[in-house]
Amino acid sequence: MSFEKVLTRYQDIPGYTGTLDAYEAQGGYQALRKAFKEMQPAEIIEAVKRSGLRGRGGAGFPCGVKWGFIPRDSPKPVYLVVNGDESEPGTFKDRMLIEEEPHQILEGIVLASYAIGCHQAFLYCRGEFVRGARMLRRALDEAYAKGYIGRRILGSGFDLEVVLHRGAGAYICGEETGLLESLEGKRGQPRPKPPFPAISGLYRCPTVVNNVETLSNIPHILLRGPEWYAGIGPAKSTGPRLFSVSGHVERPGNYELPMSVTLRQLIFEHAGGIRGGRRLKAVIPGGSSSPVLTEQHLDVGMDFDSLAAAGSMGGSGAVIVMDDTTCMVRVGEIVSRFYHHESCGQCTQCREGTAWLHKTLRRIEHGQGRPADLDLLLDMCDNMKGKTICVLSDAAAMPIESYLKHFRDEFERHVRERACPFGAGV
Ligand SMILES: Cc1cc2nc3c(=O)[nH]c(=O)nc-3n(C[C@H](O)[C@H](O)[C@H](O)COP(=O)(O)O)c2cc1C
Ligand code: SF4
Repeated sequence: MSFEKVLTRYQDIPGYTGTLDAYEAQGGYQALRKAFKEMQPAEIIEAVKRSGLRGRGGAGFPCGVKWGFIPRDSPKPVYLVVNGDESEPGTFKDRMLIEEEPHQILEGIVLASYAIGCHQAFLYCRGEFVRGARMLRRALDEAYAKGYIGRRILGSGFDLEVVLHRGAGAYICGEETGLLESLEGKRGQPRPKPPFPAISGLYRCPTVVNNVETLSNIPHILLRGPEWYAGIGPAKSTGPRLFSVSGHVERPGNYELPMSVTLRQLIFEHAGGIRGGRRLKAVIPGGSSSPVLTEQHLDVGMDFDSLAAAGSMGGSGAVIVMDDTTCMVRVGEIVSRFYHHESCGQCTQCREGTAWLHKTLRRIEHGQGRPADLDLLLDMCDNMKGKTICVLSDAAAMPIESYLKHFRDEFERHVRERACPFGAGV
């Protein structure tokens, strides 16, 4: 069956709740009507700036500021590219938004496009999201049929085409410039920056790249007002955030909360605490790229700045919880294997560094580590940071450094006893 046929077989998807009727019944597309009637594009950008919305894809960059970088008088077309590649290990909130609220994403896309003067948007959906891609195809067809997307939207003079594009299963295509290369039909290899996409993005034209969750916030900001949004959570990390909580908790899942929530509240109140009443050992607070935190950090706020001050980052919002049965060397072995596999190979530090990190961690875990390996790991990490085209290399190094910082004795025990004390590497 052809790719397009797979996508158009969406009428028979069991449990689909994201229909246009359901979305409209909850006030869906009202923000769009309001914006076309009452707001100029520059006013929308200003409102998003005032809301304080920061990108939910990983870096937490202020969304309105990014939109403001797009030149207003560009002779070239302006593009909006929506990042639905969600591949950061532990993250599953964009998938939920795609499968359950596809029209909320589409409304955000139309509003963002109107604000930045884009008439051609691309929605890049992770290749493995077969069900999600069908939902998006269905939602797009519904939105086109109802006049929310296409020519002269809602009788305004504004035109917008939205193309759904499926990835082919590479983590690096979530990095915005790797994604742009992939959209252009090339290998998904990140581009050196600058120039940033706002100046030279898709087909070398001004481009905004935004995450699916970021854009899902836009209709609510415009409908309820930027002050309402800015009033949720800490002053510099406004609005609700979706936290994907996984690992050794009683109730894993996506939790939508203000970022003033502490790590302790998130794990113990919302996610039901550690499974079987065991003891917490370590938490990865923002996807596998983020440095690990421990029990001593439980009272840290889950906003971008507090997590940075605690030595980690908010990243993709994926909170991976580990109890006292977890071997941190084994975690390092698994995480470094992932980054080695996903490195695009352009930069020596990343291509070789991820391979050597994995080899060294593997031998420590399997009882063949040497005392010098611990400092060797730190030296490798040092050589991998801040020197490459994109930050995948940093993302591979920073977690390993943090495991060594907080659990060095565990690494030393592996070397001394020539075996994994947890029995995992045998
Ligand atoms: C290695 C790597 C992988 C990334 N993967 C994703 C991803 O899967 N989804 C995503 O939205 N952003 C991802 N990002 C961040 C994007 O490069 C970009 O910052 C983001 O899509 C911008 O959207 P936002 O400003 O709305 O957050 C990744 C970044 C890096 C360095
Ligand atoms: S850092 Fe790694 S993934 Fe990023 S461009 Fe270089 S080799 Fe590719």
